[in-house]
Amino acid sequence: MAVQTIIKDEIKNLSFVLNKPLDVSFEQRPKPTLQDPHDVLVAINYTGICGSDVHYWQHGAIGHFVVREPMVLGHESAGTVVEAGAAVTHLRPGDRVALEPGYPCRRCADCRGGRYNLCEAMAFAATPPHHGTLTGLWTAPADFCYKLPDGVSLQEGALVEPLAVAVHIVKQADVKPGQSVVVMGAGPVGVLCAAVARAYGASKVVSVDIVPSKLDFARGLAATHTYLSRRIAPEDNAKAIRDHADLPRGADVVIDASGAELSIQTSLHVVRMGGTYVQGGMGKSDITFPIMAMCLKEVTAKGSFRYGPGDYDLAIELVASGRVDVKRLVSQVVPFEQAEAAFKKVKEGEVIKILIAGPNEKL
Ligand SMILES: NC(=O)c1ccc[n+]([C@@H]2O[C@H](COP(=O)([O-])OP(=O)(O)OC[C@H]3O[C@@H](n4cnc5c(N)ncnc54)[C@H](O)[C@@H]3O)[C@@H](O)[C@H]2O)c1
Ligand SMILES: [Zn+2]
Ligand SMILES: [Zn+2]
Repeated sequence: MAVQTIIKDEIKNLSFVLNKPLDVSFEQRPKPTLQDPHDVLVAINYTGICGSDVHYWQHGAIGHFVVREPMVLGHESAGTVVEAGAAVTHLRPGDRVALEPGYPCRRCADCRGGRYNLCEAMAFAATPPHHGTLTGLWTAPADFCYKLPDGVSLQEGALVEPLAVAVHIVKQADVKPGQSVVVMGAGPVGVLCAAVARAYGASKVVSVDIVPSKLDFARGLAATHTYLSRRIAPEDNAKAIRDHADLPRGADVVIDASGAELSIQTSLHVVRMGGTYVQGGMGKSDITFPIMAMCLKEVTAKGSFRYGPGDYDLAIELVASGRVDVKRLVSQVVPFEQAEAAFKKVKEGEVIKILIAGPNEKL
């Protein structure tokens, strides 16, 4: 215990703080301490940058979530347990964990009904007013920290967050063995949806994007087919996708992981009669939606938001078993001090996933 205390004392709590749009700073923030016997104190090792982090950095808001006070960014993290509260039984100092970064109230109807991701009182990292994980030390309820198996690295651990997003989307889509799945958008979430759909037994997985290099990556990771979307009528794009992937009836499942209006419109024309459509991408709040196609085809249309019970466990299992190779997504790992430059690279679209080492991590 004494050793742990010494190590803990040496850990710095340097944090990457968004003050206002495009204005960030590095600050030594007060070290958090355990406040609840069920919590653990975790030293952050690696954090991935997500589109939402970049959006807050650029605009200071996403929808009705507005950054009013300086906020630490980041939510895709893995770390090492430094101290465990007295009531924690499954983790101890030294354990490597993937952090599920949203903490629900556990008491409302949605929490009690098993859909805690819908909790209205959710405290989610780097969603105002809550600080994020681009910091040295983090406290979390131990049951939202998932021990990484020996064969899974801390860098892979940071990728569990976007993979859990994809797991939730594919569960919402209820993908079955042998089905055909079209995934619109081949960013990190889209390619991970393609990989999870394959792991669920989909026999045809078509990745669609407007950037050729994204499609090259999707093909290397999981997609059986790719299609470069064009600025033509959604019905025409949809027909081209169906022809290209030999899906005369349309796809059993279509997932939007782009948020783009044209892609969403195309999706409703790609899905087959009686098929399923899941909205995972987040773009404009309101768009023109082909509701007649949805009605006439009796499409099952669903949303998907973050992740819920079992999603992190399955994501870790997919990595541990080698069925989803998240390592391939990591374009670069940079030291903490280069966090702002890393955000710029993500904004410019130069990388698939960039990881920022924790402030106490030696690269
Ligand atoms: N539902 C959730 O809980 C959840 C969680 C995380 C991210 N997201 C959202 O999921 C989406 C994907 O996340 P990401 O990190 O992969 O983002 P990303 O921006 O890296 O990927 C989006 C991809 O869509 C492509 N695209 C743009 N227009 C298109 C079009 N018309 N047709 C086909 N592809 C098109 C882009 O080229 C890009 O490759 C984003 O909208 C993000 O906000 C949702
Ligand atoms: Zn994210
Ligand atoms: Zn709740």
